[in-house]
Amino acid sequence: MRILFLGDIVGRTGRETVMEVVPTLRRDLRLDLVVVNGENASHGFGLSLPIARELFAAGVDVVTLGNHAWDRKDLIGQIDAEPRIIRPANYPPGTPGQGSAMVELVDGRRALVINVMGRQFMEALDDPFRAVADIMARHRLGVTVQAVVVDIHAEASSEKWAMGHVLDGRASLVVGTHTHTPTADHRILPGGTAYQTDAGMCGDYDSVIGMGKEAAIARFLRRMPGERLQPAEGVATVAGMMVETDDATGLARRMAPLRMGGLLAPTMPDF
Ligand SMILES: [Fe+2]
Ligand SMILES: [Fe+2]
Repeated sequence: MRILFLGDIVGRTGRETVMEVVPTLRRDLRLDLVVVNGENASHGFGLSLPIARELFAAGVDVVTLGNHAWDRKDLIGQIDAEPRIIRPANYPPGTPGQGSAMVELVDGRRALVINVMGRQFMEALDDPFRAVADIMARHRLGVTVQAVVVDIHAEASSEKWAMGHVLDGRASLVVGTHTHTPTADHRILPGGTAYQTDAGMCGDYDSVIGMGKEAAIARFLRRMPGERLQPAEGVATVAGMMVETDDATGLARRMAPLRMGGLLAPTMPDF
């Protein structure tokens, strides 16, 4: 299975660029599954249902979230009606929405996508390792599902590395989101799971993690609440990675980063 994962989409420039490139990438890279993190897609804070639907129309299969899941409060009442939008699985029981989604491809292959949130330097949530284990206990990679993609939305690289190792051999891809900064540690772990600590963001990198520089910097300089943060609106970089798995095992055969447009050095998968 050929899988594309894109990191946190930030604001209008990030979202419009993703919508523009996904149809082309889907065709040129012969993608079977496209997963994006959309927690900052609505003006930098949260995800609205109409924006999610535009992403689906562009060829996205699943949108994951994170700590900004409920910034758009309208989504709280709508998420249960759209199973392709998932929020971290380790929110407390009773939270609207689901922490995982099953995608059935046109040829019948199945992919399970899971979203969890780290606990280091973040809101106190349930144990993300146990949350993933509970979901994975119901599926077997290479048997009941051909691919498992886990988005670990977390601040601490240590927690993300740990998640990668815990799931090594049991997931196709474990990828971090939330820092909005792509890491250069993409690799296939010894057990066959593709891993990258952070996918980076799809947005304007002439910013502070996607937000306008001046207001974001002022908060650090003055330590006082200031002007509301607004997404930077310059040219966006699309950042993520592509993985090709073996359907018989669900494990990764090849993995490469993908960056296009904007300020970051471009790179495209060559398989
Ligand atoms: Fe984010
Ligand atoms: Fe986040």
